[in-house]
Amino acid sequence: MIFYKQLIKWYLQNKRDLPWRETQNPYLIWLSEIMLQQTRVAQGLPYYEAFTDAFPTVFDLANASEEQVLKLWQGLGYYSRARNLHHTAKYVANSLDGNFPTTYKELLALKGVGDYTAAAIASFSFYEAVPVVDGNVFRVLSRVFQVETDISNASAKKEFQELAFELMPKNNPALFNQAIMEFGALQCVPKNPKCEICVFNTKCLALKNGKVTALPVKTKKTKVTNRFLNYLIFQDEVHKTLIQKRSAKGIWHNLYEFPLIETYEDVSLEDIIQLSSVQFSDKYKIIAVEGLHPMPIRHKLSHQNLSIQFWKIEINGLLDDGLSLFEIKKFPFPIVIYNFIEKDFLK
Ligand code: ADE
Repeated sequence: MIFYKQLIKWYLQNKRDLPWRETQNPYLIWLSEIMLQQTRVAQGLPYYEAFTDAFPTVFDLANASEEQVLKLWQGLGYYSRARNLHHTAKYVANSLDGNFPTTYKELLALKGVGDYTAAAIASFSFYEAVPVVDGNVFRVLSRVFQVETDISNASAKKEFQELAFELMPKNNPALFNQAIMEFGALQCVPKNPKCEICVFNTKCLALKNGKVTALPVKTKKTKVTNRFLNYLIFQDEVHKTLIQKRSAKGIWHNLYEFPLIETYEDVSLEDIIQLSSVQFSDKYKIIAVEGLHPMPIRHKLSHQNLSIQFWKIEINGLLDDGLSLFEIKKFPFPIVIYNFIEKDFLK
């Protein structure tokens, strides 16, 4: 049987019911596809529901504050997606009268919209015959057709796009694109795929040649750096604390955090007493410093391994711009900090 027929047949029998598959509204498709990048469906779904409740149209999203958008995004990670989402919502609402562009090429010009997202919107909303190529598609095609091109090279994308385009039924690109991604997500999974029950097990070249686990080929590992973050939980006489907005580019841009001392390794209480006194003693009278948990908290991001310690710094008198626990919870925080606030904050 022709590849796409077999794939679509499998899809119709096995697909999950997901809300963004019930619509052709480009706003909803765009929102879901931005959320699902680097994110599993189970994790993204509640965020999709929260966003569509809070912002049913692109105008609602455009009129929100960045802080509202980041707060609702809190915990989903890769926060530049949320900032770009907001930027593009404002552009579509204010410069395009709320109408998304209708072609792959024009969609690509939107901030935060790359090849993959442009192809998803163009095919799902406007039936343009452009293939989506994400991690799932690399995996499925590299295995079924034994393509041994290294997917860490940028040129691999073009090769897989061309192959996917050849395989796609040009009169139903939407169904094909949904199907191939779903097949990668549910059947042709990275580890221990159940090839014995796979509909392609007589056709799959990787299976025939014992290369399933070796494909796709990906040689370049992402470089990971280690960082050591010490957050200072100030506490004044009325139990208020300090937070600040991260304005520097890099991780967590525009999210909030506690005053930070970054070090080159995990440090001791004595080090923190000294470092905080150098930085803050002309402003505040520090009366006690204390570690708030026995071990550093390890938190992995895609390119950074963080080791985080929270320290309580008690002061005499009042902080400038001190906030209560109730007040700080309304701000958007990196999830590792928010979890600390919920669980361990000055208890
Ligand atoms: N991951 C990315 N896009 C998806 C979609 N449309 N359905 C399911 N999983 C996805």
